[in-house]
Amino acid sequence: MARKFTLRDSSSSSESSSEEGHLIDRREFMRHSFNTAAGAITVAAIGSVGFASLLMGQAEADGGDTAVRYWVPTGAEDSVWYGDRHLEPMTYQSFVDAASSSATGMSAAQGVWSGMPVNAVYVPHEENKGSALIEDKPRFQFMDGYTADGSYVGSGYELEEDPQYQSLSIHDNLIIIFSRCTHLCCIPGWQLVTNEFTEDQWVPSGTDSGGSKLFCICHSSRFDPTVIEKNRARNRSSGAEFDFIGIKRAGGPAPMGMPLIPFVLNGDSIEALPDFKDWYTYCD
Ligand code: FES
Repeated sequence: MARKFTLRDSSSSSESSSEEGHLIDRREFMRHSFNTAAGAITVAAIGSVGFASLLMGQAEADGGDTAVRYWVPTGAEDSVWYGDRHLEPMTYQSFVDAASSSATGMSAAQGVWSGMPVNAVYVPHEENKGSALIEDKPRFQFMDGYTADGSYVGSGYELEEDPQYQSLSIHDNLIIIFSRCTHLCCIPGWQLVTNEFTEDQWVPSGTDSGGSKLFCICHSSRFDPTVIEKNRARNRSSGAEFDFIGIKRAGGPAPMGMPLIPFVLNGDSIEALPDFKDWYTYCD
């Protein structure tokens, strides 16, 4: 059941706008995403999947700041289910339809929101949460998060229990993830390459085995989008540490998982909220 929010008119051409205290500034998000040395590394490293084009044009895209849009990597037009929808607003039903033809009942797509790369991942949580934790019955799981040196940060259950994370509550079998690898800021993808981590397969408990991982092609980091945890990152500009709710790092050199982005369904449209924009600064 979609959560109910009143959303502003998405056709606004303003550079920034506010709704119920939220402030969206496109130029700020673009800075978070691409204007750093790390961003340059990212563009150079993943040019083969076409995200370099994110440097161009997105600020001119229509549809306002809230719409999450498909991003079709160059060369993947014929291999991904959203291949003919580049920069179109994401629709919820399209994920449901794509999931119906997968072995796990999952589907996912690369996307872009306010100039930032994202992944949208559909998991048949409501259908499977009451069944046994067995292979190929994926659901969202909540686990403890630790820093790279083993210090406990917090529990993924805080997403449901702490009012400050209310907008992130799991709903509609979908999550939106800020897609910058916590190793060196490349952009992990969903089934853009074929290997044991990207197979249409799922195993419980957040292990590195099984498939259905977001995979970073730069140095092979893996992220399990079905495991929600609390973790800690560092703002590279100020040095300040901050905790965030995100998905779990499953393997590879990335020190931690990647943060979630809250969203709402506005009819069939997937629209993101800027509640936690400081979480998306670790590549600054
Ligand atoms: S940047 Fe992703 S593994 Fe290195």
